[in-house]
Amino acid sequence: MQQDWDIPPPPDQRVADPATFKGIVVQGVSKSFGPKKVLDACDLLIHKGETIVIIGRSGEGKSVLLKHIVRLLEPDAGHIWVEGAEVGSLEHEPLMELRKKFGFLFQGAALFDSMTIGKNIGLALEEHTDWPAAKVRERVCECLKQVGLEGAEGKLPSELSGGMKKRAGLARAIVMEPQYIMYDEPTTGLDPITSDAINDLIIQLQSELGVTSIVVTHDMPSAFKIGDRMAMLSRGRIVFTGTVDEVRTTSHPMVRQFIEGRSQGPLGAF
Ligand SMILES: Nc1ncnc2c1ncn2[C@@H]1O[C@H](COP(=O)(O)OP(=O)(O)O)[C@@H](O)[C@H]1O
Ligand SMILES: [Mg+2]
Repeated sequence: MQQDWDIPPPPDQRVADPATFKGIVVQGVSKSFGPKKVLDACDLLIHKGETIVIIGRSGEGKSVLLKHIVRLLEPDAGHIWVEGAEVGSLEHEPLMELRKKFGFLFQGAALFDSMTIGKNIGLALEEHTDWPAAKVRERVCECLKQVGLEGAEGKLPSELSGGMKKRAGLARAIVMEPQYIMYDEPTTGLDPITSDAINDLIIQLQSELGVTSIVVTHDMPSAFKIGDRMAMLSRGRIVFTGTVDEVRTTSHPMVRQFIEGRSQGPLGAF
């Protein structure tokens, strides 16, 4: 049955001068893979210091959007600014400097299986600093403690549970003292109790480190718990942004369908 949905226009996500915006500006970003247009003139503002949760169905381009912010992918059109620097125009060195401001928690934690947890976490320090081994070890232990994995440095990833792997991934994400942390589905695949412990950890790190957090998820309890603001991605664009309270009470048909998990609605069932 065809139905008309009264879908409000997308929020205005533009700033007059992206070069002076404190945070991240995504402006008009389009990206196709072959014939498939994933991002379609996507606009988004991420304010420094906030926790923004990007929600949307699987395959909508949430991970693709994250990768554009640090230029792991390049847009077909549009621009991204991080603290005034237009990411697409950066030469190699400044791009590497910019990436150092970001910590990532990838889907699946992405630890090297053959390396100990300590080695996995210390890798970036070995690569980017000239610290002596003892100082690296000290920082690794400090990060493990921060994520509740004290003493796990000698373990292999295979010896850790799913939740502990996420914690280890998070220790690796913060080891370089990032200003931004990007979490790609941090709770996917975890049981509800472990998920909630990871949520608490994200909140704890947010307050201890004062970072800007960008969280991609379709886990709504998690989104409501950790987010200051949510942005919904659909058909290549941010179709809604609002505070967590605004999300709870909005009548936006796409957001309602998504947070209520209904197959009927403007997002379709497939
Ligand atoms: N490197 C790539 N090459 C080709 N297609 C890709 C690539 N990365 C992502 N895609 C496609 O882009 C779409 C969005 O992917 P993704 O951002 O991973 O979605 P999600 O919102 O679930 O994170 C998917 O159809 C995916 O297959
Ligand atoms: Mg993804």
